Amino acid sequence: MSKFLNADDKQAPATQDYATRPAQESDREGLAALMRKNYFKSDTVEPWQEEMVQKRIDDFVSPGGAESEGGRMFVAISGDAPVAFTSIVPDPKRGGLLVDDLYTRPDHERRGIAGKLLGECESFAREQGESAVHLSVDEQKPGVRAYYEKRGWVAQSFKTADGAKTDIDPANPRVSTWLLVKPLADTGPKQQQAPAAPKASSQGPNPG
Ligand SMILES: CC(C)(COP(=O)(O)OP(=O)(O)OC[C@H]1O[C@@H](n2cnc3c(N)ncnc32)[C@H](O)[C@@H]1OP(=O)(O)O)[C@@H](O)C(=O)NCCC(=O)NCCS
Repeated sequence: MSKFLNADDKQAPATQDYATRPAQESDREGLAALMRKNYFKSDTVEPWQEEMVQKRIDDFVSPGGAESEGGRMFVAISGDAPVAFTSIVPDPKRGGLLVDDLYTRPDHERRGIAGKLLGECESFAREQGESAVHLSVDEQKPGVRAYYEKRGWVAQSFKTADGAKTDIDPANPRVSTWLLVKPLADTGPKQQQAPAAPKASSQGPNPG
């Protein structure tokens, strides 16, 4: 048995028992708990951190939220509480859509939840007529990069100013990240709609 599983995991829900759906206002409390852990590794945060968490939730669940036009947040539910979330947003650097945040509560890891949530993002992107989606992975997380690669994501390589090859994304100077792309099959013609305006705020505090 994996060292990541808890002793009581024999009774743990199977992948198909986790419903996934777009986040809604009633998820706010559960989502905030997940975000505090994911962004700040803590259950209790400073007021400015809480403000950031609440703003992030507003962006997706409040009417007229900043992302409501071009992005979506998805949650996985166990009982009636979210135990994992992800979001997909307009990519301010490249156009198209970017998976931004993917987090599963540690006691629910390794049951396919993140895979299911990525599937939701990919379906959403297909519905928008996209032929690929992007995401950034922190260079400190090679295991997470390997996880995406197993699911068909491909790391991009770039040229440095002196012509050398690098797989670190030059468009992300704040943190060293890899840029991964997932080509999407069965994409229909792109919908006739104005592209969402790029927003500097659309990438969350964590790559991926
Ligand atoms: C990466 C993460 C989202 C995976 O969630 P999950 O619901 O367990 O994922 P799935 O069940 O769909 O897939 C399991 C895979 O995730 C990886 N994984 C899951 N838990 C892990 C852990 N504690 N440590 C390392 N890798 C882990 C493994 O590659 C695993 O595949 P394997 O069992 O074949 O080795 C989750 O571990 C997480 O939230 N990590 C912290 C935040 C993060 O790094 N997010 C990614 C940002 S780009």
